[in-house]
Amino acid sequence: MRPLWIKHAAQLVSLSGENAPRRREEMSELGIIEDGSVWIEDGIIVAVGTTNELENLFETRSIEADIVDATGHLVTPGLVDPHTHLAYGGSREHEFEMRLEGATYMDIMNAGGGIHSTTRMTREATEDELVAQTTLRLDSFLQHGVTTVEGKSGYGLDLETELKQLRVMKRLNELHPIDIVPTFMGAHAVPQEYKGKEEAYIDVVVNEILPRVAAEKLAIFNDVFCEKGVFTPDQSERILEAGKILGLVPKIHADEIESYGGAELAAKVGAISAEHLLKASDDGIKQMAERGVIACLLPATALYLREEAAQGRQMIDAGVAVAISTDCNPGSSPTTSMPLVMNLACISMRLTPAEALVAATINAACAIQMEDCVGSLEVGKQGDVVMWNVSIYQELQYLFGVNHVGTVWKKGIQVVG
Ligand code: NIG
Ligand code: FE
Repeated sequence: MRPLWIKHAAQLVSLSGENAPRRREEMSELGIIEDGSVWIEDGIIVAVGTTNELENLFETRSIEADIVDATGHLVTPGLVDPHTHLAYGGSREHEFEMRLEGATYMDIMNAGGGIHSTTRMTREATEDELVAQTTLRLDSFLQHGVTTVEGKSGYGLDLETELKQLRVMKRLNELHPIDIVPTFMGAHAVPQEYKGKEEAYIDVVVNEILPRVAAEKLAIFNDVFCEKGVFTPDQSERILEAGKILGLVPKIHADEIESYGGAELAAKVGAISAEHLLKASDDGIKQMAERGVIACLLPATALYLREEAAQGRQMIDAGVAVAISTDCNPGSSPTTSMPLVMNLACISMRLTPAEALVAATINAACAIQMEDCVGSLEVGKQGDVVMWNVSIYQELQYLFGVNHVGTVWKKGIQVVG
């Protein structure tokens, strides 16, 4: 494969710096290179700098490369989506209408819809059907500049289907250009057949499903929906601690609908990230900052549920590293658009355009332990690059609701454009 040389970018956002979650003012440091260039060989970034610097490096050695002229374009790392529920069966547009007529998300779930309805459709789907449906979503992620996603199980709620969802993601990780980082979320809901027997289901998760997931190395993370009416903080702690013993890193859907001690629990168990946090307490936010828990904020979900967004601005000011994500799922956020999520992070959570970009790249990579491979344009990382049809980074957030993606490369191979 010939090297790829993208040159003359109006702005190349390198995000160079430590491979660690960026906090406070670090979330504004984009490492912008004007007239920027990046050189990729065998899928890996070999050099980044001004076009002049790279010309001096490579032209004198007369190495032949495929050249892309990025004059007038913004170039960034591929976006990272650190929280999705992308491998599921069916869809739930009727619930969208029910909610517009006044039903709440929890009303629908408690009546056997919501997560339960997707669970039924996912149990019925074959592995091949799930692969086909999920491929379409992954294609759409790529079209929106996303080159790495996290993906959760949690629409099986039984051994067989949880493993099926995780195997679907494993297969797609090999079949599709996007990197998929898998999370086990058997504790996404108490399945209907265990209604009133919550502890018995938790026993199944802890004693049967988690050990199989770990033995088959099907997940890196273990996530729990800690919410009133779903799993209590004590139950969530038990599930997360059981995962830790098996080597799975904790994540928590926390304080989404009610303030329930989820942020505090994330700090207590040393979760890599806590998700949603719409109703997180001030004390919980402080504890997350102290323990270095990343806040993974999902402003498209808040909008879609017509809720007030999380306190993103206050979290950054309190020293929490913030990442953002689509939460792509069939109920509360059926979108694959990280550019829209960046817009909403600015509009509804008062992140600056620079902070939104950091939250969607290097901080998102840190939230899924991929920071050594993706999330910035630096020597040694994967050649995951987006060339946008805008020339400065602020335009990405300012010209909102529009897909500005021009060309996308995954590991140096053009996959969009
Ligand atoms: O993150 N809140 C829990 N889980 C998902 C929604 C899942 C669904 O409604 O299917 C979320 O929003
Ligand atoms: Fe979620």
